Amino acid sequence: MTASRITKAVFPVAGLGTRFLPATKASPKEMLSIVDKPLIQYAVEEAVKSGITDLIFITGRNKRSIEDHFDKAYELESELELKNKTEMLKIARNILPEDINCIYIRQSVALGLGHAVLCAKSVVGNEPFAVILADELIDSPSGALKQMIEVYERTNSSVLGLNEVQLSEVSSYGIVEISDDKYPKVKKIVEKPKPELAPSNLAVIGRYILTPKIFTLLANTQKGVGGEIQLTDAISNLLQYEDIYGQIITGTRYDCGSKLGFLKATVGLGLKHPETGVEFKKFLQNL
Ligand code: UTP
Repeated sequence: MTASRITKAVFPVAGLGTRFLPATKASPKEMLSIVDKPLIQYAVEEAVKSGITDLIFITGRNKRSIEDHFDKAYELESELELKNKTEMLKIARNILPEDINCIYIRQSVALGLGHAVLCAKSVVGNEPFAVILADELIDSPSGALKQMIEVYERTNSSVLGLNEVQLSEVSSYGIVEISDDKYPKVKKIVEKPKPELAPSNLAVIGRYILTPKIFTLLANTQKGVGGEIQLTDAISNLLQYEDIYGQIITGTRYDCGSKLGFLKATVGLGLKHPETGVEFKKFLQNL
């Protein structure tokens, strides 16, 4: 059976972002910027580059700025036009290609990532879809999601994006055990295990392709680690019914949900940015 195309991506952005307080008191973590672009825009660009046409944002309170960011900004555009700032105008107008749809669903209570994904059920319907966590920024020329879609197209199955982490970090992630096949299959997945109980140091890094079967399982998932409805628990259940593949992502991954990861991303991408790279490098060398 040929795999149906993945056209929908879910962006859960309803978390409270407590690790970034006070920055996230009144504005979303996903709108924090690395150099000149908010995290959510990096995530959306990755999706669009992989052929996604429907962006489904799961939002919560204080997330209005995300909707505004992807909407037309009439006032700003006419000001820039009046002042003949053509380059800036181009940037403000081209946040998204014309043929991309944005859909916003409200998760009224932040019950966990699994619950946030379940909120997308009626819009996703009965087709496979992607989930992207914008606070995991992956700098990869070929695109993290694109690498996973290639595996999906070969296997017609769910795919998890993976990366090695330090053993001391495993208790912050969903950790998997995989087979040693050419296209490795996930044998086991555990949410935030203690290092001594972790099946490996391969972490799920905020990129998922999931079959719609996940919705039925999420609807029956009880609160897990941290009192939240965990996507990992539903994925673990999915393993009883379907194969799930793991794709080790090539590229540099920044965990921008943590302060240190966020700073590393700022340095990494600041050094690569055409406007800032050279001067920023000099500055860092002289520190
Ligand atoms: P995190 O575990 O990073 O939680 O969520 P958080 O609330 O964003 O941040 P901290 O830990 O309090 O600092 C992972 C992703 O899942 C989304 C978040 O927005 C983030 O993208 N999420 C989490 C939801 O959309 N809803 C939830 O109920 C929980």
